[in-house]
Amino acid sequence: MRALARKFGTPLYVYQLNQIRRAAELLLQSIPEEAVLFYSLKANPHPHLVAELASFGLRSEISSLGELNAVLRAGLSSAGCLYTGPGKSPHEIRTALAAGVRLFSVESPTEYERLAEAAAESAADVRYLVRINAPQAGGGTSGLRMTGTASQFGIDLESALASPHLFQARGRLTPIGLHLYPATNIADPNVLAREFDMSIATAAQVLSRTGLQASLVDVGGGFAAPYAKPGALLDYRQLRAKLSTSLDTHLPGWRQARPQVAFESGRYLTAHSGTLITTVLDVKQSQGKTFVVLDTGTHTLGGMSGLGRIMAPGAQPSAQESSATGRDLQFSLVGPLCTPLDVLSRSASLPEPRVGDVLTIPNVGAYGLTASLLGFLSHPVAAEAVVDGEAVRTVRRLILQETEIEGDRHE
Ligand SMILES: Cc1ncc(COP(=O)(O)O)c(C=O)c1O
Repeated sequence: MRALARKFGTPLYVYQLNQIRRAAELLLQSIPEEAVLFYSLKANPHPHLVAELASFGLRSEISSLGELNAVLRAGLSSAGCLYTGPGKSPHEIRTALAAGVRLFSVESPTEYERLAEAAAESAADVRYLVRINAPQAGGGTSGLRMTGTASQFGIDLESALASPHLFQARGRLTPIGLHLYPATNIADPNVLAREFDMSIATAAQVLSRTGLQASLVDVGGGFAAPYAKPGALLDYRQLRAKLSTSLDTHLPGWRQARPQVAFESGRYLTAHSGTLITTVLDVKQSQGKTFVVLDTGTHTLGGMSGLGRIMAPGAQPSAQESSATGRDLQFSLVGPLCTPLDVLSRSASLPEPRVGDVLTIPNVGAYGLTASLLGFLSHPVAAEAVVDGEAVRTVRRLILQETEIEGDRHE
């Protein structure tokens, strides 16, 4: 890490491909063999990681044209993509169709109309999954709630059941199944098993009430990973048998792909692969507190701290790379941005850092760089290195680039 920091500078994200492979293998062993697994690019759209995951047979779940571009840059076919998310604009849908995407989620009656129009205009045969705002099983310590409550995601179960046209083909637009994604980041396999059971039961209920002959039911994900703190890859392998039982009960044709069942994951697959290397720029005392100013702020990590992604008290960068030794002390770790909100940790405990020390922050391969405030304060974006064992495969830097806008197109 120190050699990489010296060669490429900091802040530097390092993604280890062997960790990506381990996570993909373990997750594939956690879901039934017959199931499809989608990688959700929102966690990390780096094309190298996307390509690595695709080599395990994973397909891509995308929610923007930028993510579609990452799939294409990874050398993959757009035909394998599932395009999801609320608020897909007409321009976005048309562009995705032109690039060969043929499978979308429909998250509202408006999107149904929009997709039907775009399919007709583009003379493309388009398939879709109706996304249901499905109830959560709840209980336990479930993570971030996506649906099962008032939400912008999907269509409320009752509204969907009361709108049979949403499950019927129109022109070149054909429904092929359902999409559910009730919650995310659920660490307890038993709680997650209950969520999946609920989603599978809900899907079966919708199929029987609407008469839709589904060929694909995507029951989402929820596989957890630590964020910016030490922690091991969770083992969900006990889920496979439980999922098979739920599917046998509610969707008995699933083993013959009637319907095929799909799962999604972002953070589990990439979180562990990522380490952020950062340098101490200053160590300051103020009113009895010590502030360690890093070259990593919320423009590099944790721009989503409003969602509770600020490092938890006790989470801390590893000081193994630090030149300092001795007992651990409490520090505020802050970035170089001109806001008191640019805080990575209010109570990190590590050996006393000195200016020039290099620290590492583990488990930041998901919702790291691209979930941060890249444009705020206009610093250069952190570089990203992909390594395979000792070999450095590629190092890149994203740039925010100025470009003239010609007309009335909305990207
Ligand atoms: C529809 C959908 N799929 C996949 C994900 C990825 O979730 P995670 O990274 O927790 O696996 C999300 C997260 O918000 C989502 O909304």
